[in-house]
Amino acid sequence: QSFNIAVIAGDGIGKEVMPEALRALQVAAERFNINLNYTPIEWASCDYYQQHGQMMPDDWKAQLSGMDAILFGAAGWPETVPDHISLWGSLLKFRREFDQYINLRPVRLFEGVPCPLAGRKAGDIDFYVVRENTEGEYTNLGGRIFEGTEREVVIQESVFTRYGTDRVLKYAFELAQSRARNHLTVATKSNGIAISMPWWDERADAMAAHYPDISIDKQHIDILSARFVLQPDRFDVVVASNLFGDILSDLGPACTGTIGLAPSANLNPEGLFPSLFEPVHGSAPDIYGQNIANPVAMIWSAALMLNFLGCTEAHDAMLNAIETVLAKGPRTPDLGGTASTTEMGEAIAALI
Ligand code: NAI
Ligand code: MG
Repeated sequence: QSFNIAVIAGDGIGKEVMPEALRALQVAAERFNINLNYTPIEWASCDYYQQHGQMMPDDWKAQLSGMDAILFGAAGWPETVPDHISLWGSLLKFRREFDQYINLRPVRLFEGVPCPLAGRKAGDIDFYVVRENTEGEYTNLGGRIFEGTEREVVIQESVFTRYGTDRVLKYAFELAQSRARNHLTVATKSNGIAISMPWWDERADAMAAHYPDISIDKQHIDILSARFVLQPDRFDVVVASNLFGDILSDLGPACTGTIGLAPSANLNPEGLFPSLFEPVHGSAPDIYGQNIANPVAMIWSAALMLNFLGCTEAHDAMLNAIETVLAKGPRTPDLGGTASTTEMGEAIAALI
């Protein structure tokens, strides 16, 4: 197998954790006979912005379109470029224009990772959040009138299409089908948001009819959030709209320890466009330059990429190595250890 991978380290610790993902990938690729052709990309970074006045060249889409996947570190350097410019100028363009309509985030509690929730041990928490990534509450439809006056009015619309909703539900049902518990939780708020959310529930019921082997429950987003903290063991796959999924997919990993562990995949499951794999965390200016960033989120994201490309054995080997190093060390300071980014990355690569 041979794949073309665009490698965008981006800003801050993106530049420190990306080499560790490439180190792990190289070992996995050799062991499982996978040919990875990398195209390193300097843009989609705030350094590039400072030189060119934009985050990416005009032909960015043409440059990336032929890739099988994009491996992404982090974008953002608030000291030089405002965050809405760096994010809308890079990552959000990829998500929208490459129709990466699934944002997939695994939530798992590992041995050796201090859990902020009392009484939970490794294995108790193991689920996926599937977030709709292209429509819903995140639109530019709306505006302000009477600005700055007492009569100021602000409107921002949500957009839910049948096409967009059904495809994310279908993906979530199929993911649930591939797992042992065959359970899907549907995030809703049909009591309060009385037009779009009852409709979202109807679409979930319609899809459920095609998957009789999957049990589903619908939960309002408020109590669902509480249960992430109080009863995280009851979840298997959780599907949510763009906004609800955004919040849940930060809350989930937060319940399992440090943000330095959480990976994510932005998927165009049909492969019409490249999918993008990135850690949940950002560029972490507060720790950049010290070589202490936890490389696991980036390495796990690289493993998700191999899984998506069909290299499941390589994915499993990478994940096993991560699991062992988390349990036995070396660990970076966010996990209570003293190891550097490089030391932890080397230990994981050695185990693969
Ligand atoms: P952040 O995720 O960069 O950092 C939050 C906190 O977590 C910091 O204290 C940081 O030191 C810590 N942290 C993050 N990753 C870590 C790791 N691998 N190991 C150990 N500790 C880690 O979020 P923040 O500070 O809100 O944003 C910084 C910049 O990153 C901003 O410009 C923001 O827009 C951007 N950002 C980019 C994202 C992306 O590219 N997907 C996602 C989130 C933020
Ligand atoms: Mg978020």
